[in-house]
Amino acid sequence: MNYNIKTLLTREQIEERIKELAKVIENDYKDKDLVVLGLLKGSVVFMTDLIKEIDLPLVIDFMSVSSYVGTESTGVIKISKDISVDVEGRDVLIVEDIIDTGMTLSRIKKLFADRKVASLKVCTLLDKPSRRTVEMKGDYVGFEIPDEFVVGYGLDYDQYLRNLPYIGVVVSK
Ligand code: IMP
Ligand code: MG
Repeated sequence: MNYNIKTLLTREQIEERIKELAKVIENDYKDKDLVVLGLLKGSVVFMTDLIKEIDLPLVIDFMSVSSYVGTESTGVIKISKDISVDVEGRDVLIVEDIIDTGMTLSRIKKLFADRKVASLKVCTLLDKPSRRTVEMKGDYVGFEIPDEFVVGYGLDYDQYLRNLPYIGVVVSK
């Protein structure tokens, strides 16, 4: 497969930003009981880089969800893999690749409302604020990007291109 991809964020830009985010997180989670929770599959590349820069005791876990959005108000979330660690009383940091409409995260946040966590925050590599259909703000945001479909660093195009070491826009296929 041959894709023509225009670079939006270089590997160096991403690596530098991840270090900055990690330092802020490190400072905010001192003396907390941090559980870093990645949403599969998109967050994997970002999350592995991020946790290596956080010099704190922490555990990791993953959740796999997909949203089936019929209309804006009837969208539901399907959990195909739930967490395996006990999060009650712990400080959960959800790691996401991108916040687009905000639907996925708003449903996950609702789900965690019943799980008695001590705190729940969101760290996202990318944010497309112009696409929001529900209110959702990331607590830690790598980059705000324009309304373009991006790939790489975990983000896919029909499941491919997650392994690109930078973020790009598919110009043609
Ligand atoms: P939301 O529920 O609309 O915020 O959807 C977020 C999910 O949609 C992300 O976790 C991605 O899997 C996917 N997504 C949204 N925008 C893009 C994009 O530009 N490239 C690749 N995946 C995207
Ligand atoms: Mg995703």
